[in-house]
Amino acid sequence: MLNKILPVAVSAVALAALTACGSTSGPGAGAAASGGAAGGDAIVMGFSQVGAESGWRTANTKSVQEAAKTAGIELKFSDAQQKQENQIKAIRSYIQQKVDVIAFSPVVETGWDTVLLEAKRANIPVILTDRAVDSEDKTLYKTFLGSDFVTEGKKAGEWLVENSKGESQVNVVELQGTTGAAPAIDRKEGFAEAIKAAPQIKVIASQTGDFTRSGGKQVMEAFLKSNPDIDVVYAHNDDMGLGAIEAIEAAGKVPGKDIKIITIDAVKDGMQALADGKINYIVECSPLLGDQLMDLAKKVIAGETVPERVVTEETTFTQEQAKAALPDRKY
Ligand code: AHR
Repeated sequence: MLNKILPVAVSAVALAALTACGSTSGPGAGAAASGGAAGGDAIVMGFSQVGAESGWRTANTKSVQEAAKTAGIELKFSDAQQKQENQIKAIRSYIQQKVDVIAFSPVVETGWDTVLLEAKRANIPVILTDRAVDSEDKTLYKTFLGSDFVTEGKKAGEWLVENSKGESQVNVVELQGTTGAAPAIDRKEGFAEAIKAAPQIKVIASQTGDFTRSGGKQVMEAFLKSNPDIDVVYAHNDDMGLGAIEAIEAAGKVPGKDIKIITIDAVKDGMQALADGKINYIVECSPLLGDQLMDLAKKVIAGETVPERVVTEETTFTQEQAKAALPDRKY
């Protein structure tokens, strides 16, 4: 009997210690009881992250955690492992713990109204970061901080239009992000909009690689088998583009030359591949949202008015620009 009780007691103590540090992780992490908001003076933020699917995501998590520390905000962090049900569980747990503010990056756009209404009824403000929800009721959250994904897709398409002049046919395969996620929907839309200007550009296959390197590799292998004439890969993030490079090389072709590659993010590994000539163009999507998020949280809690939408500033990179930017690239 004692043998059975002891491990339970030990894990309860360990969990309490973790929670006291204000930094828990894992899909069920938010479920632990907290003294945070009710007790101390520090602002307590419950943050539900999508997962750790890409280099971008890792950099984003680091940015949020470091910014919270700098701002003196106690962060309760949970990783949803790319599952909406885990995010909903974490948000409910933050509501139960009466945190001061909830921030999250929604894995998909739909299905948030119920839990957001629960937060609103509990008087806990919600900030969307990185990705949007499709709720019609805009009072369910205070603000949305993140990139304009449609514009990112457009920039990718515009580069291709510019660099396909004089070609009679350009066959593109598209590696989509997570199905139902705002960046996957919007980047597809923006790209399609831009390439309308050049009817010789055709998207001949489009499938999700779930924003992961392994997903990108697997889908690209299948694309290469069923389509002998691929000219361009448009990947919704660097990681899938890097996976595609592996598949292209394994098929005996030269990425960046035989098959051109356009990606979005501009994380270090992507920028290195761009500088090495394996990727042709990258549209930046900045993961460094932490400081802006903490500023917005402080304002919201102080009752100050914040803009409904805060759009991240970003740029684009050619191979030459990547070579110049790489030495100072932070992520
Ligand atoms: O929501 C931002 C996207 O999600 C990034 O482009 C991608 O790398 C990440 O997984």
